[in-house]
Amino acid sequence: MYFLSILFPLTYLSSALASVTVYSQQPLGGTASASAAAANYTGAAAYDPTVLQAPPVPNPAPNNTFAIQVQSSSSNVQGLSIPQTGAFMGFSVEMSVATQVIGLNGSFLQVPFLNLMANIKERAGRVHVRVGGNTQDYAYIVDSIPNGIAVEKDKLLSTNPTDTPTLMWTPELIYMMANVTALTNVKWYLGVPFNDSSNWRLQIAEVGDSVLGDNLLGLQAANEPDLYVSHGHRPSTYGPFDYFGEFGTLLQAMQSDNAINNKANLIGPNIATGAWTPEMVWDTGFITQYTSSLTALAVEHYPADNCVAVYGTGGTAVDPQTEFPNYLNHTSGYSIIQPYINSTQIAVAAGKPFLMMETNTASCGGFPGISDSFGATLWALDYGLQMAYYNFSGALLHVGGQNVYYNPFTPPPTNQSTFHQWTVGSVYYSALVIAEVFGSSNNSQIVDMYANNNNIYTPAYAVYENGSPSKVALFNYITDPSGATTYTANIQIAGGQVPASVKVKYLLAASVADKTNITWAGQTFGDVLSSDGRLLGNENVQTVNCDQTNNQCSVSVPAPGFALVFLSDSAYSDSAPSTTQTFATTAVTKTMNTATIAASLLATSNGHSGANRVLGSTSKGSSGAVGMGVRVPGAVALIATAIGSLVVGRVLMR
Ligand SMILES: *[C@@H]1O[C@H](CO)[C@@H](O)[C@H](O)[C@H]1NC(C)=O
Ligand SMILES: *[C@@H]1O[C@H](CO)[C@@H](O)[C@H](O)[C@H]1NC(C)=O
Ligand SMILES: *[C@@H]1O[C@H](CO)[C@@H](O)[C@H](O)[C@H]1NC(C)=O
Ligand SMILES: *[C@@H]1O[C@H](CO)[C@@H](O)[C@H](O)[C@H]1NC(C)=O
Ligand SMILES: *[C@@H]1O[C@H](CO)[C@@H](O)[C@H](O)[C@H]1NC(C)=O
Ligand SMILES: *[C@@H]1O[C@H](CO)[C@@H](O)[C@H](O)[C@H]1NC(C)=O
Ligand SMILES: *[C@@H]1O[C@H](CO)[C@@H](O)[C@H](O)[C@H]1NC(C)=O
Ligand SMILES: *[C@@H]1O[C@H](CO)[C@@H](O)[C@H](O)[C@H]1NC(C)=O
Ligand SMILES: *[C@@H]1O[C@H](CO)[C@@H](O)[C@H](O)[C@H]1NC(C)=O
Ligand SMILES: *[C@@H]1O[C@H](CO)[C@@H](O)[C@H](O)[C@H]1NC(C)=O
Ligand SMILES: *[C@@H]1O[C@H](CO)[C@@H](O)[C@H](O)[C@H]1NC(C)=O
Repeated sequence: MYFLSILFPLTYLSSALASVTVYSQQPLGGTASASAAAANYTGAAAYDPTVLQAPPVPNPAPNNTFAIQVQSSSSNVQGLSIPQTGAFMGFSVEMSVATQVIGLNGSFLQVPFLNLMANIKERAGRVHVRVGGNTQDYAYIVDSIPNGIAVEKDKLLSTNPTDTPTLMWTPELIYMMANVTALTNVKWYLGVPFNDSSNWRLQIAEVGDSVLGDNLLGLQAANEPDLYVSHGHRPSTYGPFDYFGEFGTLLQAMQSDNAINNKANLIGPNIATGAWTPEMVWDTGFITQYTSSLTALAVEHYPADNCVAVYGTGGTAVDPQTEFPNYLNHTSGYSIIQPYINSTQIAVAAGKPFLMMETNTASCGGFPGISDSFGATLWALDYGLQMAYYNFSGALLHVGGQNVYYNPFTPPPTNQSTFHQWTVGSVYYSALVIAEVFGSSNNSQIVDMYANNNNIYTPAYAVYENGSPSKVALFNYITDPSGATTYTANIQIAGGQVPASVKVKYLLAASVADKTNITWAGQTFGDVLSSDGRLLGNENVQTVNCDQTNNQCSVSVPAPGFALVFLSDSAYSDSAPSTTQTFATTAVTKTMNTATIAASLLATSNGHSGANRVLGSTSKGSSGAVGMGVRVPGAVALIATAIGSLVVGRVLMR
């Protein structure tokens, strides 16, 4: 069912998703023109203009007013989660697209990617990113690739019968990751190739360990091993005990490899919950046998798939319009993680984090009109908070290539000129907001408040930090432009007193079907092919005065919408983006070719003052050796400062 959770090169998808090679941007107007354009759209999925209809207001509609009662002390709260961090929701970058998304190599970094990571880091302190996926299993190291590129598909094996492209990578991949960390504090997950358990290829563990050190959070041992049989990567008899055995031989190989210092950094079993349940793996004794080598337990999962539309064979075709309501209520997130609740309890008892290493709206690219909609923003946010409540310790949204609908961010096609820039997908906003929901304290605990109102369209959560209530998160999944389905949540503090006022940030769009004009506290990443990874517009934070006499703060939530209510000044400041000055890398226009870099770092980077510094320049017609190379000397000087000894290179912008 989940057999193609990665994004294959265009050749595989071209029949269904049409030719990506000659992409021309469609005008994206309102719903009507977008739908017309969608009818004959032949471009890449990432820019598909399909806009669905928002489902009608349900009957009965949710109550217009209800109380949300938080406790003055978390000791009175039942079922509070384990402590969570603002880095809870990160990203999973398919290894084959790492050079499109992250950079070409250590000295060519994608500036919009840096900005997108910096946005999370400013709120959460750091960002968690995995480079891997199905393509990790057949990856092999080479000394160099022409033009100094870090990763490339192996053209010689393009007829690989497994349908999995074989990748070559060089140590530049890991240097590139280290250099990204120096700028934006990204912490990484990698995976050990698992295609051949009698000849382990441990170079990624060796180089990863020595170059990334503590910034390597863990190494996946296998990627979706429960799908190896259906992918033809193992004999039909392959089961959980075989995986258990292979994990053991991997450990033996690592034990005798002196180039790997940290031999306790493995993550398993990373099953797709396709052919196996997690319990089938636990029942092999996996956790007890390997506990000293496991840094985390993990699964990967997509709640649905669009494989029929992509391949035209097998299964039942899904109509996105019919599927849409399944993403637009609180039951969705719960039903996805229900098979893992037993396992998160087992993980907590074993003292191991439990991770969702790869997820998104649907495998085989997601659904047009759903995966890139504001509905998906609300869905991924609720699903993420639901995972946090049920004691997962992190979740990574998958990033494929141009051929998927669900990317949190998509670089432009390689030969697009720089002015088209990146597309920030609707689920990126979910990760950004989760960074603020949990903030930077490392000590946020969350509880589902759904029972307060008991309506699947208007769920809520409360967050406690260091024992006190700090935030309330309020959802409205319904689209009703009339305003009649806007609701008011009366937030009360049992055993305490509401503050004189609270601050509120809204996540908004006109409809759950909208794909552009999504705003968080009034700021946006704009339309497709128009973002440099920085929020545009002025931040707009509401102040709501509370009724202290009646001990309640009344916060309204439009349909659709989401509100994050900060119950104290410290809750607000812990999550607020740190004061980071942003810099344009061009004198031509400040919205183009830009990097978000701390003024303090720049100020000391190379003797220049940071405040008004122009980091480089380009023009719409400029062209580099690969894509559109742009020289950004300031940013490279910054890299030199941050890591000490960098040979000055270039930052790629394409
Ligand atoms: C972009 O690349 C495609 C495929 O390589 C090619 O057909 C097309 O002409 C290129 N467009 C431009 C503007 O270079
Ligand atoms: C997005 O917002 C702008 C400014 O409010 C407006 O002009 C534009 O029509 C909106 N686009 C869509 C697709 O709603
Ligand atoms: C789609 O293509 C068909 C066949 O070329 C054409 O008849 C139809 O008008 C097109 N529809 C739109 C909305 O452009
Ligand atoms: C409205 O609130 C009442 C009282 O809490 C509850 O019983 C009822 O189910 C709610 N109705 C809806 C449609 O949510
Ligand atoms: C950053 O990348 C450059 C160029 O590839 C490389 O020489 C350098 O070692 C990298 N820095 C780190 C800390 O890995
Ligand atoms: C495993 O992958 C490597 C690198 O792609 C390849 O050379 C090797 O033949 C594969 N082995 C098996 C058993 O599939
Ligand atoms: C990084 O890639 C660029 C473009 O291909 C190349 O010019 C440069 O030499 C590469 N750097 C290294 C260290 O290989
Ligand atoms: C939880 O998992 C354990 C280990 O597989 C199993 O023994 C137990 O029955 C499971 N409990 C539930 C409620 O599924
Ligand atoms: C809510 O979502 C669940 C899970 O996706 C779905 O099964 C259910 O039909 C949805 N409910 C409604 C009323 O749409
Ligand atoms: C999460 O873990 C905490 C601490 O062990 C526990 O009290 C709580 O019940 C767990 N939550 C769920 C939903 O299992
Ligand atoms: C949160 O945890 C991270 C990772 O362990 C650590 O680097 C950071 O200093 C912690 N932050 C606080 C406020 O304790």
